[in-house]
Amino acid sequence: MHIDIVTVVPGLLDSPFAHSILKRAEEKGLASIRVINLRDYSVGKQKQVDDYAFGGGAGMVMMIEPIARCIEALQQERTYDEIIYMTPDGATFDQSMANALSLQQNLLILCGHYKGVDERVRKRYITKEISIGDFVLSGGELAAAVVADAVIRLIPGVLNDETSALTDSFQDGLLAPPVYTRPAEFEGMKVPDVLLSGHEAKINEWRFEASVRRTQERRPDLLRNQEFGESDGTSNKK
Ligand code: ADE
Repeated sequence: MHIDIVTVVPGLLDSPFAHSILKRAEEKGLASIRVINLRDYSVGKQKQVDDYAFGGGAGMVMMIEPIARCIEALQQERTYDEIIYMTPDGATFDQSMANALSLQQNLLILCGHYKGVDERVRKRYITKEISIGDFVLSGGELAAAVVADAVIRLIPGVLNDETSALTDSFQDGLLAPPVYTRPAEFEGMKVPDVLLSGHEAKINEWRFEASVRRTQERRPDLLRNQEFGESDGTSNKK
């Protein structure tokens, strides 16, 4: 997968992809990420990329010309499966969106800044608008990094057995169960016996039940459209 991220603040994306799993994904040749400075496509000597809003009001608006030049230049190089705009009024990002995007080959992510982009950019170029939650960030860069991280770790081969995405929260519609490591007892706090038993079927059953309990307690909304098999860890979406 290749991801191009277009931004007016490329420095904000200097390091998120240079560590841990995302770095390994790049090294293994499974993902490549390029950060593109929108100012390189600006019009005029001032390298202007934003202007006052027609009709007045506080805040600047990202102009259509640099964005059009940038996207059209990038489209000469590759065909994008999605051109995504990061914006607080987009569809809320979730694991099913991450799963769907992880199947794509080429993504372009445009980061909004200031008051956002001229509406005509959205009409002409954008195929998907994503918010990472009901709060407003200073720009779409950190949100783009969140989306890229969630998507890249799902590409087959990026995670190994120890970090497998199959047991993540949300992957089967449930929150993940509690986890423990050594020591088996810390200041009187014991790890549940079943996890030390070596009995795989019992451990799976405990984990499934703990997942359901945790989801009921913390996110009952996730259970509303689900029917679960008899503690065998299977789930069937209605
Ligand atoms: N840009 C500013 N806030 C955002 C959010 N919550 N999600 C995506 N992009 C944003």
